[in-house]
This record gives sequence, C-alpha cells and structure tokens, in this order.
Amino acid sequence: MFAARRILVSKPTKDVFARSKHSLPNLPYDYKALEPIISTEIMELHHSKHHATYINNLNVAEEKMEEAIAKGDINTQIALGSVIKFNGGGHINHSIFWCNLSPNGGNPDAALSKQINKDFGCMEEMKKSLSQITIAIQGSGWGWLGYDKKTKSLRIATCANQDPLQATTGLIPLFGIDVWEHAYYLQYKNVRPVYVEAIFDIINWKDVNARFKNITGC
Ligand SMILES: [Fe+2]
Repeated sequence: MFAARRILVSKPTKDVFARSKHSLPNLPYDYKALEPIISTEIMELHHSKHHATYINNLNVAEEKMEEAIAKGDINTQIALGSVIKFNGGGHINHSIFWCNLSPNGGNPDAALSKQINKDFGCMEEMKKSLSQITIAIQGSGWGWLGYDKKTKSLRIATCANQDPLQATTGLIPLFGIDVWEHAYYLQYKNVRPVYVEAIFDIINWKDVNARFKNITGC
C-alpha cells in the first residue's frame, strides 16, 4: 500500500509588475484662475467630475481587460478596446488641456514662432485656421495644433469624441481645444465660436513651447 501523498500547491505569487491605477492630476492653478475666460464653476466640474469620470472608467476597463486576457477571452478584449479608447483618450486629452492653459502663459518662443510662420504664414493665420476647424466640429470633439514628425511641420487637426490625437493620427499634440459642451456651455451657452476665440487669450505658451522643444529639440 502506498501512503497518500499530499500534493502541495504553491500559492500564486504576487505580480511584481502590478499595474498602478491612473489618478486625477492636480490642476497647476486654482479653479478660479482662468476667470473670466473660463468660469470657476466650469473648471471645477470639468476637472473634478468629467476628467475624474474618464479616469475611473479607464481603471475599471483596464481591470476587466486584465481579467479577459487572463481568461483568453478575446471577444471581451475587443469590446473593451473602444471603452479604453474613449476613457483613456479623455484622460490623455484633459491632462494636456489643463497644462495648455494659464492666466499668464507668456508668448511663443523664437523656435515655435519661426515654425508657425513657416507653416501658416503668421500667428494670426494659424489661430484663424485652428479656430475655424474647431468651431466646425460636428458634435463633441477636440481641435488640435500638432506636430508631424515625418514632414517636420505643424499641422491642424480635429478629433471626434475623445479620440486621442497621437494614437489616432500620428500627430504629436502641442495645443488642444476641448469643444465638448461641458467645457463651455454653462458660460457660453450654444455660442461655441466665442468660447473658442476667447481661449486663445489663456494659452499657456510656456507649455506649448516646452512640448515643441521636447519633440524637435529646438
Ligand atoms: Fe472636457
């Protein structure tokens, strides 16, 4: 007779590369700092409710994605792709947007001014093109000034919903304008053009200069 043998099953080890959850970044200024261009009420709701919701939904979707991958459940992985695109895009876009704005954002530096003049003729033409294309977005979305590394030039583009610029177009974002109604409706009602024109007065050029320098090295 053989004695019953205990089969020892080791406990699964903790994943040392456990994913950390995304969290809401602090604004680099007070909610009231962008008055009168963007009201305190809009800033507080936009940051603490809307951006926070994208992050919460992204964290939940990523957890579900991990489970689906562990189970080899490809259907669920595919379904979660659009959820991650929307909420991950919302997190990326708003994280850029807060830094793109400032009550005292300075001016474009020499390198960025030179590139704007080369690609658009002058600053006013760039603003005009970006305003027009952004105001004309159907439904919700974003207008962007981005950089095309292939052609080494600035480009203007729009993205629907929360589609992130780089992942969906290849352009690297420099400055974005959020034209979801949650960004302006409480203050500007349905008059999107006035909001878009006004936002150029609170561009944080220091941030845009730094993004341009980070891409181009100049
Ligand atoms: Fe937004």
